[in-house]
Amino acid sequence: MYQQSVTMKAVICPKYGPPEVLTIRELPRPTPKKNEVLVKILASTVNTGDVRIRGLRVKGFMKFVMRIVLGFTKPRRPILGTVFSGIVEQVGETVNQFKVGQEVYGTTGFKQGCHSEYICISENKVITHKPKNASFEEAASLPFGGQTAIYFLRKGKIAEIDNPQVLIYGATGSVGTAAVQIAKYYSATVTAVCSSKGKELTQALGADKIIIYDQEDFTKVSDKFDIILDAVGKTNKKQCMPLLKSNGKFFSVEGTDISSERTEYLEFLCQLFENKNYVAIIDKIYPMEEVIEAHRFVDTGRKKGNVVLKIIP
Ligand SMILES: NC(=O)c1ccc[n+]([C@@H]2O[C@H](COP(=O)([O-])OP(=O)(O)OC[C@H]3O[C@@H](n4cnc5c(N)ncnc54)[C@H](OP(=O)(O)O)[C@@H]3O)[C@@H](O)[C@H]2O)c1
Repeated sequence: MYQQSVTMKAVICPKYGPPEVLTIRELPRPTPKKNEVLVKILASTVNTGDVRIRGLRVKGFMKFVMRIVLGFTKPRRPILGTVFSGIVEQVGETVNQFKVGQEVYGTTGFKQGCHSEYICISENKVITHKPKNASFEEAASLPFGGQTAIYFLRKGKIAEIDNPQVLIYGATGSVGTAAVQIAKYYSATVTAVCSSKGKELTQALGADKIIIYDQEDFTKVSDKFDIILDAVGKTNKKQCMPLLKSNGKFFSVEGTDISSERTEYLEFLCQLFENKNYVAIIDKIYPMEEVIEAHRFVDTGRKKGNVVLKIIP
């Protein structure tokens, strides 16, 4: 049995601001309720969602909405982090999908709490077994971009399109690298827009055509697309309209369309990873103690794929 006095280390965001507001504290380790599992977290990610919350970095009216959702003057839930991979340490009395010692991964969305050595999560929330062939770092890097890419590409009904023609704008971030790979899984012909620095990565991901945005204007391309996904939110529908087929669809990660998080998406990513249809793209791995550096790097907006935070070494 666990004592309430047992502690754990967690990254705390006591107020909105730059990376330097973050600090590591000892907190009581949580005890699982009867339908919850206690997960010992080995790896998480610092993603664009985390830095957005930390800095309350949203535009206009959305800032007000975010304050209502997250906390008016400071984060109501001060432990950031929306992704975890780890080992089941303890299970509540009614849990029947997980056993102590199993390797799992999952997401907590706006509840956050993953930049911490332990977390309690209901077995019916977004948690599943991690891919058998993935390291904990690789598993942690799958959900953020992966779930977003699945959400938008399925919204575009990619599986129902015969020989889909897909353009991914911003193909080298967490969402972009996932979107290229998932579109390829659905047998799409993928045109990827990236910088000259991202060309090699985009090629390795299997993009069929690459447009280098610092050398070429992607809107001048003569191809027409069934789906255009702006995976970095740097373009807009008006700019992309001429590139769409008559029934083509444009999606952007920027705005009010927020991707859902589902266990089914994680199971799909697990299957893709285990079948070698998907690789984890990790730019840097930081230990928890260097969380401020990790946030600074993600703040640059230049990371390739994902930034992993190693929680328990
Ligand atoms: N709506 C939703 O549900 C949802 C879900 C997840 C994420 N998001 C949002 O999606 C956005 C992207 O997230 P992310 O985590 O994938 O970002 P990220 O990993 O930080 O994206 C950075 C990448 O974008 C490239 N990039 C930067 N400027 C670019 C430009 N002008 N054109 C093309 N590529 C550019 C960078 O490479 P170079 O600098 O070499 O070009 C870098 O590789 C964030 O704003 C995030 O908040 C939304």
